[in-house]
Amino acid sequence: MKQPFYITTPIYYPSAKLHIGHAYCTTLADTIARFKRLAGYDVFFLTGSDEHGQKIQRIAESQGVTPLEYVDGIVAMFKELWKRLEISNDDFLRTSEERHHLTCQEFFRRIRDKGDIYKGEYVGLYCTPCESYWTEHQLDENGNCPDCHRPVEKVSEEAYFFKMSKYADRVLEYIKSNPEFIQPTSRRNEMIAFIEQGLEDLCISRTTFNWGIPVPDDPKHVIYVWFDALINYITALGFLNHDEKFEKFWPADIHLVGKEIVRFHSIIWPCILLAMDLPLPKQIYGHGWLVIEGDKMSKSKGNVVDPMLLIDEFGADAIRYFLLREINLGQDGNFSRDALISRINSDLANDLGNLLHRTLNMINKFQKGIVEEFSGVNRDVDQSLESDKLETIRKYRAEMESMKLSDAMKTIWSFVSRSNKYIDETAPWKLAKNPDQKSELAATLYNLVESLRVISIMISPAMPLTSRKIWKQLGLDSTKNFDEVQLDDIENLRIEFGHRIEKPEQLFPRIEVEKS
Ligand code: MSP
Repeated sequence: MKQPFYITTPIYYPSAKLHIGHAYCTTLADTIARFKRLAGYDVFFLTGSDEHGQKIQRIAESQGVTPLEYVDGIVAMFKELWKRLEISNDDFLRTSEERHHLTCQEFFRRIRDKGDIYKGEYVGLYCTPCESYWTEHQLDENGNCPDCHRPVEKVSEEAYFFKMSKYADRVLEYIKSNPEFIQPTSRRNEMIAFIEQGLEDLCISRTTFNWGIPVPDDPKHVIYVWFDALINYITALGFLNHDEKFEKFWPADIHLVGKEIVRFHSIIWPCILLAMDLPLPKQIYGHGWLVIEGDKMSKSKGNVVDPMLLIDEFGADAIRYFLLREINLGQDGNFSRDALISRINSDLANDLGNLLHRTLNMINKFQKGIVEEFSGVNRDVDQSLESDKLETIRKYRAEMESMKLSDAMKTIWSFVSRSNKYIDETAPWKLAKNPDQKSELAATLYNLVESLRVISIMISPAMPLTSRKIWKQLGLDSTKNFDEVQLDDIENLRIEFGHRIEKPEQLFPRIEVEKS
């Protein structure tokens, strides 16, 4: 039986269109999901939309539509974006769906029945854009929200509370005894310090608006949006219907989230699960933020980058490659159009595109499109290429397994360069002039096709469209259907003598940059 692997992205707020920062998070998760599928796991990859809350209700009111009408429009755009970005999610969960309402209410009911949810009076400070409650001492120096620095509102209302304080010690113990639970380590230390300050019970209902999931048996309250949202990870597995998906995939292997919401996932979520007597997720991975030319993205600064426009202009794979290559997972990273264009031109059009193009053109020109047979050729250059190939595969696997995605891209591309250098070292155009060197020529072209075959498998989690194109141009569909390729095929599959390649086509056109 295949080993299960469950990975999630955060569910995004449909308060506006998604930007390149959101696309970054989903691309990371998609690349990991695809790698795990390639490695033979049974993967469940979930994303979705977090649709409730006061902010959404206010936006809808300002536009004169119902909240559902408003989110329907935005969520359709989310789905379109993920399709265009080649995101391979297995489900898309909307918190407005009935399956989610029912699951969430069941959580509420069970936790209330066991006495861990009680009714009280909430007096506090609320940041509507972040949907977060704060205490006086948590505010920034101007008395604003410590996350987004916008004003908070004072609210006082009857509310339900969740006894988080009861679970603080157990969560702390779990974090301390499972070093892999919160990654990277810096985030783990922050969370330990946060819990050690003491956890207060969490207010988990509101009465000042109604766009949310009604509290069971007390529908003038709606469930707090974070309590509602976190449960999405379980709804999607069919928890209520005792679905086999739940048995198979829970606990999640990775909740991939942005650094500012690690706290919700590594503290509130475990408390909810402990109250439900459910196992805790294996890992919360907090990735860094994408900034634009060094600056935080915001509407007011007018520097929000729309991923859809970038895909229209450069294609999904170029954007995916840039995001994976340029930013170290866990750290903040910079997005700039110049850097994107320069990566496309150097790494994609030049290094990878040329390797494919030169190889296929030479096979057409010198061997009529056939990967010819040879024997008895084993030059130093061949041995060195072969050992570099094996070392590349080993490093690539290790880096992908440990989520060092940027390093894995660097490893592949140094092998791309190495293979280009092999062309210069062996100079096939010279070999082609001398009939006595027919075998050397055939060996050179064979080894290049093999390099490209290995490269196309290795890039497939990151660049699914390009790897498919390379596979096709190498004529490999007749050897193995691209969709059935597995990671072990890197070593197991070999191109046979007499193999015919297909028509070469350009992978990435060079982007001309206007000189100012
Ligand atoms: N709805 C909540 C998540 C609930 S999960 C149970 C939420 N939504 S969000 O739309 O505001 O953010 C979703 C994710 O996008 C977060 O993980 C956040 O870190 C990420 N990003 C938002 N801006 C980002 C960048 N500029 N760069 C990278 N990720 C960014 O929080």
